[in-house]
Amino acid sequence: MKSKKKLIAGNWKMNGSLAVNDALLKGLVAGLAEAACDVAVAVPAPYLAQVQAAVFGSVIAVAAQDVSQHDAGAYTGEVSAAMLKDFGVRYTLAGHSERRQYHGETDAVVAEKAQRALAAGITPIVCVGETLQERESGQTEAVVKRQLAAVIHLNGHCISEVVVAYEPVWAIGTGRTASPEQAQAVHAVLRAQLAAASEHADRIRLLYGGSMNAANAAQLLAQPDIDGGLVGGASLKAADFLQIIGAAR
Ligand code: PGA
Repeated sequence: MKSKKKLIAGNWKMNGSLAVNDALLKGLVAGLAEAACDVAVAVPAPYLAQVQAAVFGSVIAVAAQDVSQHDAGAYTGEVSAAMLKDFGVRYTLAGHSERRQYHGETDAVVAEKAQRALAAGITPIVCVGETLQERESGQTEAVVKRQLAAVIHLNGHCISEVVVAYEPVWAIGTGRTASPEQAQAVHAVLRAQLAAASEHADRIRLLYGGSMNAANAAQLLAQPDIDGGLVGGASLKAADFLQIIGAAR
């Protein structure tokens, strides 16, 4: 049933420099002659050309951290899906909780971003997840279902073209990972929602993100509905990221 490859995506967030990226990418490329899973790094937009060149011919795919919901024109500071495509971008995050929280991205905006990415031939990694307050007040399921519902019917596209990342906000950058059981429970909810919308639900990759690291990755990735990871902090160290990739088979 689960013939799809897992996906391990690093999210560098607003970190890096030409020199730091160079060292990290050299370490990753050298350590990844082959990988049992798909691998991507989501990098800050100014470094797309550098990363595209550095990973050329390797198993590492280039990803963006965000994409504009607009096509082109007077949107100062925005980066369009077509521009990302120009730099060989294969995936883009859409609706990361930091974008939702600090940049006011609504479910509707996230859906538009996913739509723009798909139209340009880029796979959106749509992020969903509850805050600590939402979890503690018993709203986890309702929140993630609402967030996923917004992207489940995209014009002319099937939900099976999308990757979904469950990232509990309280676990991001806090060192407080969801337990494998907690994560699996939410993944099962998302899978059931996808199954109700698409006969291809089994094909859709559901990533877990939130303090995934070299020590906890194997247990998380062993859960039946966890098809990969979205890795922040631990993706900035080649050795740690390589260990997580090694745990994904
Ligand atoms: P973290 O970040 O691994 O540092 O918790 C994950 C993310 O925000 O994608």
